[in-house]
Parts: sequence; structure tokens; C-alpha cells
Amino acid sequence: MSDDAANDEIFVTQDGSHSIAASRFGVTYHSKYGAITESRHVFIQAGLFPLLLNTPVQVSILEMGFGTGLNALLTFYEMANRRMEVYYEAIEGFPISIPAAQSLNYPELIDEKDAELKVVFERMHSMPGEEEVALTPHFKLLKRLGNLEDLDFLPRFDLIYYDAFAPSAQPELWTAPIMQKMYDALRPGGVLVTYCAKGEFKRTLKAVGFTVERMPGPPGKREMTKAIKERA
Ligand SMILES: C[S@@+](CC[C@H](N)C(=O)[O-])C[C@H]1O[C@@H](n2cnc3c(N)ncnc32)[C@H](O)[C@@H]1O
Repeated sequence: MSDDAANDEIFVTQDGSHSIAASRFGVTYHSKYGAITESRHVFIQAGLFPLLLNTPVQVSILEMGFGTGLNALLTFYEMANRRMEVYYEAIEGFPISIPAAQSLNYPELIDEKDAELKVVFERMHSMPGEEEVALTPHFKLLKRLGNLEDLDFLPRFDLIYYDAFAPSAQPELWTAPIMQKMYDALRPGGVLVTYCAKGEFKRTLKAVGFTVERMPGPPGKREMTKAIKERA
């Protein structure tokens, strides 16, 4: 663990779920109004559920910012009883430590009766990077342990969870070249969802070709953004 990560602090958000205050970036991984509430609202309800209406067999998801693994765990949980294959690729430049991950309260808060969740959550963190791992026969995870700026992607994704730290903390991750990279990684008809609703960011999305929709945000935020790569 780097010195920066050693100073990270786990705290309880308003829905009772944990988040981390990242000393390296001076920001938190989630909203103080509720980590699970925010992840469910922005990524699961606005991103994953609409996709499931149209994609009966296989879904391919790219997450920018694996972080605590909360979005990946919620996706795993939601997909567990559906007869669909999930390919989930997650980018992370600064992985949290395994002891930090073990102290997060997500598995029990998501479903305290589902013992598999804790096992899967630990495996998500302890599994190696750069290797596709079948967490179950239906859910494959690949962690890309590098900086987004340096990575390339196959144009295979139906959905992107864009969960970088905010533009105020990391403006370099909200630029046109990065959004072009995200656009190119999506299949036609693919969608990017993010909690960020800044005007400049939405203009950048439009400039690279996305159709942009404003949506109601999670508690504490008026709006969030959904960006669609239209079919030709
Ligand atoms: C908002 S947090 C992600 C929260 C995460 N989705 C979760 O559910 O916990 C942003 C993440 O992006 C990672 N990150 C920051 N800069 C990065 C970069 N240039 N490339 C890849 N990952 C980066 C951080 O380490 C952090 O884990």
C-alpha cells in the first residue's frame, strides 16, 4: 500500500454503508448521503436495468474506477438470478488494500442472508489483475490495473459506469480525448452513465458524438447524466 493509501479513512455514509475518504485525491469515493443509495441510483437503476430490457443473453460492462468494488458487487447481486452472461471489465489505477476491502460493510447490507456475496466480494479484491476470472459460470471479471489515460479498449461494451473522481479533483479524466475513448469502447446503442452533471462535461460528451440526457440525481444531487452512442 502506498503512503497515500495508508492515510485513507473508511467512514459511514447516511444510509449506513461505508465509503472511503481518499487522501491522495482529497475526495470521497461516494456521496456522504449514502454510498449504496448513490451506486444503486446512478449505475444500477439508470444504467443496468434499462439495458436488461433490451439485451436478453449477454451484457458487457466497463467500469471506470473499480475502487471499493461496490458497483461490481451490486451488479453481481442483481445479475445472480438472471439467465444472462456478464462480462465486467473494471479499471483501477490505485487499488485499495485487501484488509480495507474486508472491512467494508457492503455484502451484509446488500443481503445479509446471501453468504456468497461476502466470498465473491473478497475474491473480487484478491483476484489478480489483467486476467479474466469467472466468479461464477455467468459472471466474468477482468480488472485492468493501470491509468485510464494509458489503456485501450475493444469496442465491445453495452454500458459504461463512469465513476472517476469529480472534475474538480481530476479534470484530466473528463476531457474530450478520454470521452472519445469511452465512445469508441461502446457498441452502437451503448450507454454511459455517471453521477456528474456539469455543463462543460455534457458539452464535451456532445462534441465527441454522444446524445446526452439529463436524469434526476441521487440524494444530494439534482441531476446525473446518461450519454448514448446512437446507432448509425
Ligand atoms: C469515485 S472512485 C470509484 C468508486 C467505485 N466505483 C466504488 O464503487 O467504490 C474513483 C476511482 O478511480 C481511481 N482512479 C483515479 N485516477 C485514476 C486513473 N487515472 N486511472 C484509473 N483509475 C483511477 C481511484 O483510485 C478510485 O478508485
